[in-house]
Amino acid sequence: MSINISAPESHQDQIRALAAAAEQARGIDLEGEKKEKLVKSIKALLKSQNAVLVAHYYVDSELQDLAEESGGFVGDSLEMARFGLNSEADTVIVAGVRFMGETAKILSPEKRILMVETDAECSLDLACPIDQFNEFCDQYPDREVVVYANTSAAVKARADWVVTSSIALDLVKHLSDQDKKILWAPDKFLGAYVQKMTGVDMVMWEGSCIVHEDFKAVALKELMKAKPDAKVLVHPESPGPVIELADVVGSTTQIINAARDLDANTFIVATERGIFHKMAQAAPNKKFIPAPTAGEGATCESCAECPWMKMNDLQRLENVLNTGTNEILVDEKVRKKAARSITRMVEFNAKATD
Ligand code: 13P
Ligand code: SF4
Repeated sequence: MSINISAPESHQDQIRALAAAAEQARGIDLEGEKKEKLVKSIKALLKSQNAVLVAHYYVDSELQDLAEESGGFVGDSLEMARFGLNSEADTVIVAGVRFMGETAKILSPEKRILMVETDAECSLDLACPIDQFNEFCDQYPDREVVVYANTSAAVKARADWVVTSSIALDLVKHLSDQDKKILWAPDKFLGAYVQKMTGVDMVMWEGSCIVHEDFKAVALKELMKAKPDAKVLVHPESPGPVIELADVVGSTTQIINAARDLDANTFIVATERGIFHKMAQAAPNKKFIPAPTAGEGATCESCAECPWMKMNDLQRLENVLNTGTNEILVDEKVRKKAARSITRMVEFNAKATD
C-alpha cells in the first residue's frame, strides 16, 4: 500500500523561491594569494578555538580540502554525524546544510555547533513541516515512523527511526522482517525505491530533492548508448526510472567507493556535482561523466548543483570563526527525543557493519 500526500502548491513555490534566493547568495570562489591568506587564517582560528570543520561532499572542493588538511572530515551525512560525536573538539563547524548541523547538535549537546551558513536549507526538510507531519502520523498510529536524515529536529523527534541513504534499505528490510508497517517521510523517490526493494507496507510523504529529481531517464539512456562501457552510479533521491538504469544505487560515500572498486574506467554519475572532487581523488585514472539533468530542448534548472550547499564558502567560514555567529541550538526536549531515533540508527549501523 502506498498513499502519497503532496505538499501544497504554494509550499512548492516557497521552496523554489528559497532555492532561487540561495542561488543569489552563492558562495564566492577565490583564487591565488587571497585564497591562500584566507585558508591560513582559518586554519589558525580552528586551532586556537579547538574547532574542527566537518564538510559534506557537495560543498566546494576548497572547503573539503581545508576540512581534511586541518584535522576535520569530509563524508556522507551519516559519517558526518558520527565524526562530530566522536571528535574531541569543543566546537564543530558544519559545512553543509542545516539538518546536518542540527544532527551534530542533537548527538553532541555539550559541543558548540556552528554552521558556515544557517540559511543553507534542504528541499526535503522544507517539504516536511512538523505540524502537517504530526497530523499525518496521527492518522497511522500502528506504523513505525521512519524519517530520512534530511528533516528538522522536530520531525526526527516524532520518528521511531532516522535513516540516511546509506542505511535506509537495510533498516527497512530489518523492520519488514519483523512484519512492521512503515510510515515513510519525506523523500518520495527514496521511499519508492525502498518499498520496491523490500515489498514493505509503506505510506509515504511526498517530498523530493530539487537537485536529484531533475535527472532524466530518457537522456541517460541515450548517454549510456553513447558510452556502452560506462557504469552508472545513482543516488537514491533520483526518480525511479533513473534508479532502474543504475549499476550501483547508494549514498555519496557508497558511490565514491563503487567508482574506486568497480572494474570500469568510465562512470556516469547521477548525484550533486560536488562529489566529483572526491571521486577524482579516489580513482584518479578514471573518467566521470555527469548524468543528464534535462532532455533535449529542455532548460536545465539545477544543473545538478545544490544551491544551499553552494552557499558555503571560505569567507563565510572565516566570519563565523571570528564572530561565533551561526550557532545551532535545539530545544532540549526535542533534542532528547530526536537523539533516541538517531542513536538507534547509529547503533543499527554499527551492528550491521560488525
Ligand atoms: P548522503 O547521506 O548520501 O550524504 O546524502 C545527503 C544528501 O543531502 C544527498 O542529497
Ligand atoms: Fe537537500 Fe537535495 Fe541539497 Fe541534498 S542535494 S541537501 S537532498 S536539496
